[in-house]
Amino acid sequence: SSPLVVAVDGTSGSGKSSTSRGVAERLGLRYLDTGAMFRAMTWWMLRQGVDVHDADAVAARCGEPEIVSGTDPLAPSITVDGTDVAVAIREDDVNAAVSPVSTVPEVRGRLLRLQREVIAADGGIVVEGRDIGSVVAPDAPVKVYLSADPAARAERRAAEAGAADVEATRESLLARDRIDSGRTTAPLVMADGAVHIDTTGHTLEEVIGLVVALVEDAE
Ligand code: C5P
Repeated sequence: SSPLVVAVDGTSGSGKSSTSRGVAERLGLRYLDTGAMFRAMTWWMLRQGVDVHDADAVAARCGEPEIVSGTDPLAPSITVDGTDVAVAIREDDVNAAVSPVSTVPEVRGRLLRLQREVIAADGGIVVEGRDIGSVVAPDAPVKVYLSADPAARAERRAAEAGAADVEATRESLLARDRIDSGRTTAPLVMADGAVHIDTTGHTLEEVIGLVVALVEDAE
């Protein structure tokens, strides 16, 4: 049988990362954070001084950086040309620029190839993003779509980031969602066959348990 792929999509701050890592850890699967790859591409563009709102400029340069993601759910890692960018890609400048960069079809095409290479390597994998169940791994036997109400999401993200300003965090999340849902290439959608879980009011452990049960049912 083909290796197990668990596709986890959803809005920013819906609990995708913690859930995906928790599921991978419980089931002994690999883990891929595709958002980190888009963030790494964006970090590199900013560092190169590329105008991130100029789609042609972004498209022309997006083949240059070498982006490598680790797949250990206990120690996620991401490098660009050998530099560890795990912390830098969570900064405000990247938050503000990542959705515009992610609308560029050439960026998506390049990262899609990288993502499929990782997925095709040995072992089952939990893959989180926005277009995993719809575009990256449409044949995944388990697809989950996570959402949560904006207040819950902003509180979670602000707590993770140590940000004092929950309102600013909320605005930044909603701005990204609008661009991610409205873009032409691979927008955030609920994929065919995805199970929708609203995480508002659920603990992380409960959500992990729900997804683990879906995987066990699929096997
Ligand atoms: O998941 P995270 O919030 O880190 O993703 C950051 C951004 O990367 C998203 O807001 C979206 O613009 C982009 N992204 C994407 N497709 C994915 C994963 C992330 O466009 N599969």
